[in-house]
Amino acid sequence: MNTEYLAKFYKKTYTEKIDALVKAELLTELQADNLKNEGGDLGQDIGEHMIENYIGNYSLPLGVAMNFLIDNQETVVPMAIEEPSVIAAASFAAKIIGSAGGFTTVVSERMMIGQVTLKDVADPSTAIKKIKNSRQEILDQANEAHPSIVKRGGGAKDLSVRLLESDTSENIPSFLVVHLHIDTQEAMGANIVNTMMEGIAPYIEELTGGTALLRILSNYATECTATATCTIPSYKLKTTNFSGEEVRDRIVEAAQVAWVDPYRAVTHNKGIMNGIDAVVVASGNDWRAIEAGIHAYAARSGQYRALSKWHTNEKGDLVGTLTLPLPIGTVGGSISIHPAAKLSRTLLQEPDAKRLESILVSVGLAQNFAAIRALVTDGIQKGHMGLHARSLAISAGAKGAQVEKIAEALKKAPHMNLQTAKDYLSKL
Ligand code: MEV
Repeated sequence: MNTEYLAKFYKKTYTEKIDALVKAELLTELQADNLKNEGGDLGQDIGEHMIENYIGNYSLPLGVAMNFLIDNQETVVPMAIEEPSVIAAASFAAKIIGSAGGFTTVVSERMMIGQVTLKDVADPSTAIKKIKNSRQEILDQANEAHPSIVKRGGGAKDLSVRLLESDTSENIPSFLVVHLHIDTQEAMGANIVNTMMEGIAPYIEELTGGTALLRILSNYATECTATATCTIPSYKLKTTNFSGEEVRDRIVEAAQVAWVDPYRAVTHNKGIMNGIDAVVVASGNDWRAIEAGIHAYAARSGQYRALSKWHTNEKGDLVGTLTLPLPIGTVGGSISIHPAAKLSRTLLQEPDAKRLESILVSVGLAQNFAAIRALVTDGIQKGHMGLHARSLAISAGAKGAQVEKIAEALKKAPHMNLQTAKDYLSKL
């Protein structure tokens, strides 16, 4: 990638932005033409093959966040999101963090968990012993059910068993759950895992005398995690009204509040998910799976808590860390067919699944930093107002150059609302 063409990206016109991405070798000419002509949208021919009863597309704006330095690699990050300010906030945070060395990430092995949940197991302790004694046969059967993943170097690697105790107060009986730990390589792996679970269920029923009630992957991907860390010297945090040390301490305190107060934690984590979801969607991945898993992870201690942590190190720098389960893929599902997902992969320089996890977790940390930095200093509204004003102008019916004129007037108005926008438009 050649970043010299990307300087002052936000100041370029729409066409200049796309041309700059081509010059920076982040898009092909063909992709650029498709963007200019079709906005990267799905064609009817593709849409009809993706879902049932297809009638059209529901589009989200696709933008790029700039300035990301992730494990020493400059990265332009595609984000699909309707919310104003998210991309600007990510780029702003990435610029500060990038000037301090960027994000460092650590990615775990990519193991997905599949579950066969058994009911009516008369003798759970004997059943558990039999399952453990038949570990290799069960793994072999799982791998025979999906030989192609084994050929690619993955497959079922391990097995564990959990007894879910009965809960008499709720009239819930006990269940026995067999977990397979499956390396799905570059795929998110839902189909691989589900096929394996259905493949091994009859043998497990035979071993245990129970009945397989559920045979499905778990979206709680605790064995597929990524961590991002960033370290920011406090002088880089200075604002007009606060010293760098004050901002640093206030960010640490804001994170402490989100650790102890679930009401704040949900909003704190929502800010993180602004970045995660936008990149997960742009990359063609299953954002419902990612959302469900991440929120469960936030509650892993028994209380819903902040996903990120911020502290001051011995040098007085602000240090942020974020760990998330990120069972994304770079193949399968809509990833290889959705034109915007393919384009996002090109922009990201064809990352493998681990690299995509690194990018995601870094964007989440950047987004969190931007949000809490704004919250503990100027407040969040100041930064939002420009884009909000433009949205109001468009809602009021402004077109072309009118949008900017009305947005500027709205920013100075005592009440920034739709009625004021309509009044200005009629005066124009
Ligand atoms: C808004 O989309 C996200 C924030 O509410 C996140 C936060 O409060 O940390 C600003």
